[in-house]
Amino acid sequence: MTARIIDGKALAQQVRARIADDVARLAAEHRVTPGLAAVLVGEDPASQVYVGMKHRATEAAGMVSRQILLDADTSQEDLEAVVAELNADESIDGILVQLPLPGHLDPNPVQELIDPSKDVDALNPYTAGRLAVGEPTFLSATPYGVLEILRHAGVELAGAHVVIVGRSNLVGRPLSVILTLKGRDATVTLAHSRTRDLAAVCRQADVIVAAAGRAGLITAEMVRPGAVVIDVGTNRTEDGSLTGDVAFDEVREVAGAITPVPGGVGPMTVTMLLQNTLEAARSRRGLPRR
Ligand code: GUN
Repeated sequence: MTARIIDGKALAQQVRARIADDVARLAAEHRVTPGLAAVLVGEDPASQVYVGMKHRATEAAGMVSRQILLDADTSQEDLEAVVAELNADESIDGILVQLPLPGHLDPNPVQELIDPSKDVDALNPYTAGRLAVGEPTFLSATPYGVLEILRHAGVELAGAHVVIVGRSNLVGRPLSVILTLKGRDATVTLAHSRTRDLAAVCRQADVIVAAAGRAGLITAEMVRPGAVVIDVGTNRTEDGSLTGDVAFDEVREVAGAITPVPGGVGPMTVTMLLQNTLEAARSRRGLPRR
């Protein structure tokens, strides 16, 4: 079997066009233009690329993008003061603080300070807690992107066994919660670096989501023939190119469907951040989210 390649870039273009239409309608009907603020501390090259992509995509969707670039030696207090200002700024509907922060800064109090109505990254523990008890919240952008890709690919989640590899706060853990909520109804195994016999665990999966941050971790012998493989990995090779957590060339010979890196989950991550910002702008003004 050769896997169907799921084109995340094409799906992202489609969803972004719909978001741009919704943004235009919001401006015409309610005189509201959603605003997203991205805070970047320091000069981590990968973070600069991500924040730049978010900025361009936000403007292309017709929203206002504000970039706040802070020196690498910014203090915890000053960073928290910036977030407090953005909380109070009525023109800003979504706030994200790009991770990782420089080592001397603690991300947790910063995330906790973000107004939940503007928490488009869904990293505030309050937002994560609401998600865990099944209350409506923002879904963080990468898990939301994975969910949309699975929906678009026609993958039936109810009753399916999804093995997520990687338990990060950004991807694996929230995704495990989202997929087990009533209405989605997947059976989830959240595997990680201490999981015994990862290959055997993965072979049980109808869907594998690779989000461990280790290039080529998922090999063909770990994949049941016909399984769906979603690659969240964004690893840099020695020549600077981007590669996923899945050994793509061999796994595509076994899987039923697979996302490439680049051009899979990545474009959908930025897209769902835009979706969250649009939803924040609507719900903060008492309009239905969609
Ligand atoms: N760094 C890598 N991915 C993300 C993300 O989704 N949000 C934030 N804030 N930082 C990141």
